[in-house]
Amino acid sequence: MTAQALVLLVAAVTAWLVAALVGPRVFHEHLDHRGDLTSDNLVRHAEEAYVSANVIAVSLALLAAVVTALAVSVYLNRRIGRTITATSDAAALLAAGSYRTRVEAPRLGPEFEQLAQAFNAMAGRLEGTETTRRRLIADVAHEMRTPLATLEGYLEAMEDGVVQPDPATLAVLRAQTARLTRLASDMSAVSKAEEGRIELSWHSVDPVEVAQSAVTAAVEAYASKGVSLTLDTDPPLPPLRADPERLAQVLGNLLENALRHTPPGGAVAVTARAGGSQQVELVVADDGEGIAAEHLPHIFERLYRADAARDRQHGGSGIGLAIVKAIVEAHGGHVSALSEGRGQGTRITVHLPIEDASARRAAVGGGTTRA
Ligand SMILES: Nc1ncnc2c1ncn2[C@@H]1O[C@H](COP(=O)(O)OP(=O)(O)OP(=O)(O)O)[C@@H](O)[C@H]1O
Ligand SMILES: [Mg+2]
Repeated sequence: MTAQALVLLVAAVTAWLVAALVGPRVFHEHLDHRGDLTSDNLVRHAEEAYVSANVIAVSLALLAAVVTALAVSVYLNRRIGRTITATSDAAALLAAGSYRTRVEAPRLGPEFEQLAQAFNAMAGRLEGTETTRRRLIADVAHEMRTPLATLEGYLEAMEDGVVQPDPATLAVLRAQTARLTRLASDMSAVSKAEEGRIELSWHSVDPVEVAQSAVTAAVEAYASKGVSLTLDTDPPLPPLRADPERLAQVLGNLLENALRHTPPGGAVAVTARAGGSQQVELVVADDGEGIAAEHLPHIFERLYRADAARDRQHGGSGIGLAIVKAIVEAHGGHVSALSEGRGQGTRITVHLPIEDASARRAAVGGGTTRA
């Protein structure tokens, strides 16, 4: 406001000086050049008329300019002030834990739009983290209840002498504590993954090698259940830019699921193949239990189990596929599931961008080691 007023004052003084000093002199010279104006009276009258016309014109123009400039700057000051107040109020609400707080687009030009967008992005991120945190606590509490109830039941029964602490009882207790331990580590892994805090160590990775070593690691478990495991690759495949350990974790989880849900005598096939010009697909297909259509869209959700009672008995916490999804997405890929229904087998496909495509993306996005 002060700066605007100063500019106006300088403009007014300059206009006034020009009108009062320069204008009349120029007018006077013009009259002088016309030699036929003889009456002094007439000349004086004309000059006075010129000066008063000047004064009126300049005064009116200055008045209009001052009023308009003041109105515009009051309006702008108010709007900017309102936007800043709204943003600082929103920041205070956010700090107090209202993560749904957002600011409206101020329509005050690109810088203010950017400020509002950055603020809303920050609030969205905080809200996401908070939601994850709450769900995590609720999920963990829910998952802990069953093993804790079993442990408590057995301990009470032992205190009452109804159950003896024999190897069978101890095995039950151990299984429950093992489940709790696994739950704890899985939950921390998945919340890290879902919040995008997976540390990836990027390498140039041969997809065939990754598939090969995942199959080799699983061979023993498959053999002891009597499920056949085959590897079908389609070389040469372009290299991936990926974290090989994380990819091993992805395939390990998928192979564990396939084994769990395929009865003895069944078959599981791992395939590594090109998927279009920019992608490689890693497929784990089994001919086991399959997944009913109503469950299929949910299996990548954390703690989701198609057959909760039975899957829990199998020892699963319903976290494996959530981790798979988070890791694959951190690599810039995606994962999809296909099953014709119960008893029809399941096919999980991991789509990963090849190294060239990732390099191009990293160049555009600046490249990062954190996903
Ligand atoms: N190959 C498969 N065949 C049939 N159902 C499957 C298959 N893979 C996953 N599912 C279903 O999807 C659910 C979620 O799988 P996910 O790997 O996330 O959890 P989980 O295997 O039960 O537990 P965890 O992986 O944490 O040990 C499983 O409980 C199961 O019902
Ligand atoms: Mg699993």
